[in-house]
Amino acid sequence: MFVLMSTAGVPCAHADEERQEDAAMQLKRTRLFNAEGDRDWGKRRIIGGNTTNMIELNNIKYEWAYKLYRAMMNNFWIPEEIPLADDARQYDLLSDDERRSYNKVLSFLIFMDSLLTHNLPNINEYITAPEVNLCLTVHAFQEAVHSQSYGYVLDSVVNPATRDQIYNEWRNDDHLLRRNQFITDLFEEFIENPTDRNLMKTIVANYILEGVYFYAGFGFFFVLGRQGKMLGTVSEIKFIQRDELTHLAIFRNLYHEIIRENPGIVTPDMEEEFVEMMRTAVQHEIAWGQYVTQGKIVGLTDALIDAYIKYLANLRLQSLNLPILYPEIKEHPMPWMDSFAAINSHKTDFFEQRVTNYTKAGNLNWDDL
Ligand SMILES: [Fe+2]
Ligand SMILES: [Fe+2]
Repeated sequence: MFVLMSTAGVPCAHADEERQEDAAMQLKRTRLFNAEGDRDWGKRRIIGGNTTNMIELNNIKYEWAYKLYRAMMNNFWIPEEIPLADDARQYDLLSDDERRSYNKVLSFLIFMDSLLTHNLPNINEYITAPEVNLCLTVHAFQEAVHSQSYGYVLDSVVNPATRDQIYNEWRNDDHLLRRNQFITDLFEEFIENPTDRNLMKTIVANYILEGVYFYAGFGFFFVLGRQGKMLGTVSEIKFIQRDELTHLAIFRNLYHEIIRENPGIVTPDMEEEFVEMMRTAVQHEIAWGQYVTQGKIVGLTDALIDAYIKYLANLRLQSLNLPILYPEIKEHPMPWMDSFAAINSHKTDFFEQRVTNYTKAGNLNWDDL
């Protein structure tokens, strides 16, 4: 039977009520199946539940997880169906600064999606709600598709030597390695010590990674695309970003649901730590964005990068019910970006027909997820 264990290894029958304010609970991996588990959805819990581990989609507790699962399936896309021949021609016509930024942004995105594909199962094996397990499995699958899209972009647009250089950039660029290490260390902490509180920390780290770290890179591509450059790559990024919106919703819901079920799991000290994690991530992202672009990309000044990342950080903090860090930033500094980034938003989107075929649902409504 699944039990929560105290850090001393003593089983806790009623973990919530008996927990010490400062004690973290050790989580146990779910078993492949559990004949003693409860089928009753009323007894289901996100963590520490007594799950049979069977996936029964007509016996669901967490409606949001099932809705997100359906939304992600409807968003299915194939990177190779976006033509990149024009991008291959245009790449040589970019300025040196644009090409440098293009390469460096891709190298960072490649690293992060790879990290996510590998790390999501580490979280999933401690989640005791099968409908949420399903969601996280498709989430990991989509991260793999993102890696597939980068492979396709590199094969289509740059020469083999540049492709290898971009793949290996995370080892050669200290700036890149430093910030990758920061987020990886947070993930490793949970892998080494899978307590309920480290899980909350890793959930917030994931939320920051998906909600802030990707966006200076996305922003760079949208700025290029707005000028009619590299539109195939920009379409790939649009599909990736659409997936990221559902991933953010998964982790936001996980965070709130676990707190609802485990009052006191996130202490005021932890909330402060989460806000500090965000502050560090914002500093990294701004420094990275400015380092990559070096103030030489038309339409993306250092000041815009600074304001954009802070604006996003405020949004993400708000959706976790945490205090915002940058009250001076009140609106999106590049308001054109959201509509530009939407799928099918401009006639040069080569993928338009295919998307209509895939996507049965209407536009995602963030508030419904
Ligand atoms: Fe991704
Ligand atoms: Fe993601």
